[in-house]
Formats: sequence, C-alpha cells, structure tokens
Amino acid sequence: MNSMTLTVDKVAKEFNRRSIFRDVSFSLSQGQSLAITGRNGSGKSTLIKVIAGLLSATRGTVAYTVDGNSLNVEDLRYHIGLVSPYLQLYDEFSGSENLELLSKIRSDLGSDSKRIQEVLEAVGLWERRSDYVRTYSSGMKQRLKYAFAVLHRPSLLLLDEPTSNLDQNGITMVAQVVAEQNRSGILIVATNDADEAAWCSSSIELGLP
Ligand SMILES: Nc1ncnc2c1ncn2[C@@H]1O[C@H](COP(=O)(O)OP(=O)(O)OP(=O)(O)O)[C@@H](O)[C@H]1O
Ligand SMILES: [Mg+2]
Repeated sequence: MNSMTLTVDKVAKEFNRRSIFRDVSFSLSQGQSLAITGRNGSGKSTLIKVIAGLLSATRGTVAYTVDGNSLNVEDLRYHIGLVSPYLQLYDEFSGSENLELLSKIRSDLGSDSKRIQEVLEAVGLWERRSDYVRTYSSGMKQRLKYAFAVLHRPSLLLLDEPTSNLDQNGITMVAQVVAEQNRSGILIVATNDADEAAWCSSSIELGLP
C-alpha cells in the first residue's frame, strides 16, 4: 500500500452562487481519519464529492500526495475507494461481472479473480455472485458497493452514509473494513450517527454559523 496524504485548504462550494460551505481546511495522512457531520443539506455529500474529484471546489484547493509525489486528479481512481448513495452499479450485470469490469478499468493487468472472490466473500455475496444486481436487495447492493470500494485496497476510503440498508451482520462487516482502513490508510466518513463518527480520530461539523 502506498503512503498517501490529503490536504484540504480553505475549500468553499457554491451552487448557483448559493454558499453551501466555506473555509473547510484539514489534512490527513496514513492512519488518520475524519468524520464529517452536519445537518441535512449542510454539504457532507458535496464535500465528499469534492474530495473524490467528482465535483470541483468553487474556491480553495484539495491536494493529494502518494509516496511524497503529488497526485493528479485523473490518477485518483487508483488510490481512492467510495461507498455512497449516488454510486451506480450496473443492474444488468451480475455482482461478480460488476467487479470484473471495475477491476479491468482500474488495472492494466485485467481482472484479478482471486481478489474478486476474496472481497465477495468478505461482504457476504459470494453465494449470490452470479445473480443480476437488479435482483439484489438494497442491503446486498450496499454490500456490493463495499466490494467495489476496497477491491484495489485504496489508500483513501470515503464512506457516505456507511451503514444505510445494512443489518447487524453488515454493520459488523463495515466495522472490520473501517478497522483495516484505520491501520493502513486514510478514512473519511460522512455521517450523523455518533457510533459511526466514533470510528474516526477527528471530526468537523458543517453548517455551523
Ligand atoms: N447539483 C446540485 N445543484 C444544486 N444544489 C445542490 C446540488 N447538489 C447538492 N446541492 C445542494 O447543496 C446542499 C448540500 O447538499 P448535500 O447533499 O451535500 O448535503 P448533506 O449534508 O449530504 O445532506 P444529507 O444529510 O441530507 O445527506 C443542499 O442544499 C443541496 O440542495
Ligand atoms: Mg448526504
């Protein structure tokens, strides 16, 4: 695993000139984690998207380094994993086909079937791997998002509403993913659940005056 740093400096986001948040600054390195809290609409998901490179900031900078070298936003996908309500799965493919496709996109070496089996077993979907995703329950889809997010062992893991639709066994699975990420990389969790925020070594609250 590469050693990564993330530096968010005075980041502001506006939609149609309406300010969502401003002056957000923090920095994280390997083994550090951050909970982003705040009321509904305070900008947690928006900030996650800005960090993931899916949205640009209106002001301020988001910078990443890997092993001391600065990282371009195009290369971020090799180092980042995201679990979020707005992540789309391919409904007309099976669970394992979704992972094979993603594995090919992320690597020049093609898909890694051993690693795919490992993550599908870890999220409890190995038995259902050949079923179409459209036939999955919402908790099974959430589990598949975890398989997606950790497949390439990302240095930076972003979790937005981490336990939505999950049963107790699923929440335990997430807690294991979180513990592993806290040992090996950077973790950011957007949540208003106190138990989930407690996974992280620091926190910020958006939407304060
Ligand atoms: N694409 C967009 N265009 C315009 N406004 C947007 C867009 N995306 C989000 N917003 C607005 O930005 C604000 C923050 O939304 P965001 O989804 O980041 O909040 P949140 O803190 O994640 O909320 P929740 O707790 O409900 O998940 C909201 O007022 C929302 O309406
Ligand atoms: Mg949100």
